[in-house]
Amino acid sequence: MKKILLIVGGGIAAYKACELIRLCRKAGIEVKCVLTAGGQHFVTPMTLAALSENQVYTNLFDLKDEAEMGHIQLSREADLVVVAPATADLLAKMAAGIADDLATTLLLATDKPVLAAPAMNVRMWQHTATRRNVATLRGDGVTILEPDEGPMACGEYGPGRLPEPEAILRAIQNLWEGSGEGVAAHTTVTTAPPLTPPASGRGTLTGKHILVTAGPTHEPIDPVRYIANRSSGKQGYAIAGALAALGARVTLVSGPVTLATPPGVTRIDVETAQDMANAVAQALPADAAVMVAAVGDWHVEAAAQKLKKEGGAPPTLHLSENPDILAMLAASPRRPGLVVGFAAETEQVVDHAVAKRTRKGADWIVANDVSGDVMGGEANAIHLVTADGVEHWERLPKQDVARRLAERIADAL
Ligand code: C5P
Repeated sequence: MKKILLIVGGGIAAYKACELIRLCRKAGIEVKCVLTAGGQHFVTPMTLAALSENQVYTNLFDLKDEAEMGHIQLSREADLVVVAPATADLLAKMAAGIADDLATTLLLATDKPVLAAPAMNVRMWQHTATRRNVATLRGDGVTILEPDEGPMACGEYGPGRLPEPEAILRAIQNLWEGSGEGVAAHTTVTTAPPLTPPASGRGTLTGKHILVTAGPTHEPIDPVRYIANRSSGKQGYAIAGALAALGARVTLVSGPVTLATPPGVTRIDVETAQDMANAVAQALPADAAVMVAAVGDWHVEAAAQKLKKEGGAPPTLHLSENPDILAMLAASPRRPGLVVGFAAETEQVVDHAVAKRTRKGADWIVANDVSGDVMGGEANAIHLVTADGVEHWERLPKQDVARRLAERIADAL
């Protein structure tokens, strides 16, 4: 059983630590809690003890029997130290190496990876001192999640809200999943402010979890260069937003794009196809999956050092095939009930899409002709290929394609 040491800092978001403990326990993770003096103003040690079913530690000098449970041992017996909420003060002390209470002493003494989920007022998060501390900590190898953006308890609006407990749990699992493969370094999780869900009933997706992939992938050639494609992510983001607007819990696994996270969507940022495949596997189970990402077909046997022009022949890139995420998902024992793939074609669009539906094991294929300005453009003319035949949709803005597809998905689930 994996173990975490959860340090609960002093902020209004401390109440969300309770839900995080519950989710971790449900996921089979043992949790031991340390509650700072500030944290005790918001939650009690007894609440955390009841939820974690473990003793809660609050005071450096309470560790009365050093031989039995010294702070060094406490900091090292877990597989991961999680700080949630990580206040501006805690981040500053961590960055400076200050150890003036139990939490900061444990953070200095630990030999385990540390993940921090910040929560603070937007101005505090944006303050140069906090930016500097976050940069220092990231440079030191601490994983710091991006806070969510939205209305804050203090009445202001902006980034600074604690990421939702589900997103923190996924980040913990991604970190473990990625260990040894360098995945976690490229994976961040953010959740956009929640939407008011529509009333449940026909045509809504309340209670459904839907996985969406979007954007391109970046396949590194060396530490500074990569291979990418022209996908903007617009269609996938519009679909994620339209599904959330119908009440679905949406996990959007996104390659590098410059778009804002649609309201109500939890977004996991990845770079490579392998990262995307791992994040998709982590996000299961799902009721449906809509794979819109333009996944790179190959990755480069990347160089550890920057390639240099040395006057001789240009370097040769050796390419290996990437996993086909859609085909793997469709064949997996954890296959979502509805698997939708996309097909970007430049000729014989429908014929290729019909063949692709069978070859990849998808239920539906949304085919589009990318010989024009679809990649990066605002509109899309699509053909929906299902087991029942082919529907031809008129050219529509990508937002309208998304809404119509989301309604079709709601009818099918
Ligand atoms: O084979 P092709 O790239 O045309 O297939 C497109 C569909 O397959 C899209 O739904 C895309 O997201 C998915 N795909 C994938 N993993 C890959 C390649 C494509 O999930 N490696």
